[in-house]
Amino acid sequence: MNAAPNALPAEATMTRGLAGVTAGRTAISSLAGELRYRGYSIESLAQASDFEDVAYLLLHGELATKKEHDAFVGRIRDSATSLDKTLVQSLTLLAQRQSSASPMDALRSGISILGQIQLDQTPGIHALLIAQAERLLGETPSMLAAWMDASSNRPIAPWPNAPLAESLLARLTGRQPSQSHIQAFGTTLVLYAEHEFNASTFAARTVVSTGSDMHSGVTAAIGALKGPLHGGANEQVLEQLSEIGSVDRAEAWVSEQLSAKRVIMGFGHRVYKDGDPRAVLLGRMCRSLVQGTDGERLEDLADTIEQLMLQRKGLRPNLDWPAARIYHALGLPIRVFTPIFVVARMSGWTAHIIEQIGDNRLIRPMSLYCGESPRDFVSLETRSASGASCF
Ligand code: COA
Repeated sequence: MNAAPNALPAEATMTRGLAGVTAGRTAISSLAGELRYRGYSIESLAQASDFEDVAYLLLHGELATKKEHDAFVGRIRDSATSLDKTLVQSLTLLAQRQSSASPMDALRSGISILGQIQLDQTPGIHALLIAQAERLLGETPSMLAAWMDASSNRPIAPWPNAPLAESLLARLTGRQPSQSHIQAFGTTLVLYAEHEFNASTFAARTVVSTGSDMHSGVTAAIGALKGPLHGGANEQVLEQLSEIGSVDRAEAWVSEQLSAKRVIMGFGHRVYKDGDPRAVLLGRMCRSLVQGTDGERLEDLADTIEQLMLQRKGLRPNLDWPAARIYHALGLPIRVFTPIFVVARMSGWTAHIIEQIGDNRLIRPMSLYCGESPRDFVSLETRSASGASCF
């Protein structure tokens, strides 16, 4: 039998899950050695900047001057306060139809609706793409808050006149947050903002590499982030901690999960095999937030699980492990944990979409075929049942 003319070369290799594969170039962030956004260390950004400062850096490539920063904050607030009425009506109708739907589904649908209302600038002039990204940065948190109101059958409250971290926290908790709470929440947004070729960002880049538009790329990214092996892990972390309940049950619970070969959420990482530096940074904030409250019991439990995971599997926490505990300490409901990740990662996604559009080549890898050898077609009348699988 002759080889098909377009077959893979005999020496072709395949890596499951593209682990360790360098799939493209980016100037937005780097994980080599330490995590940096546009060259700035994540430690310095987490300590000294706010979410808008980081989002501006990711999108525009440089730190903003005070004047640029204030204007950027204003533009994001304007987008948040002027959410499209058709979008709000659609979300309200969807909430009436299915109020228990995940807010991740609401965001995915909402971004898609926005894509239909606002005509995408694709292939786009750079400045128009930036403007579109800035609009999404304001619309997404406002949409999340609107959905939470609509799905709880409350009137949709106005967006506050404050920076994004403070406004979103106030909208989602229904009260004015303290400075320490705003600070902790803002730090999670900075740390969630960007992480090079993670699954959702890669999904977004793949979509726009076909010549498609920003809203389509972001819609795909939200779908990818929803999964529990990616952004969905932060909600599962708290579900798991609640299920275990107390320190005395921790050891038996971990043993049971590991012997059943179940993954424990908030541990392990595709890239960081010696621990996620973002988890270390955020982990330090967890205990101080709950000092002197009942929340210390959850921290004791989290410490115990961490020790057990290190002893049993050599695995350390990823960012979702402390982020879930911070969100819980701030009084946020579990179902908004992953949507908050969307709000933050919108900055990274849109920066990557613009980078991909600016230097595009279609993303189209190849596969290693593992199916049947060539065989003759059998007519419908003479077929018998059969099945084939790679696994
Ligand atoms: N709990 C239990 N075991 C885990 C684990 C976890 N959280 N993470 C990895 N492992 C195990 C794997 O099953 C594998 O075991 P094996 O050698 O017996 O097959 C081993 O550790 C090595 O896994 P690795 O190849 O490093 O994982 P990966 O790179 O394919 O997957 C994740 C990375 C993130 C998908 C994986 O660690 C995971 O599912 N974590 C939990 C979900 C999560 O927190 N996601 C957020 C990521 S930021």
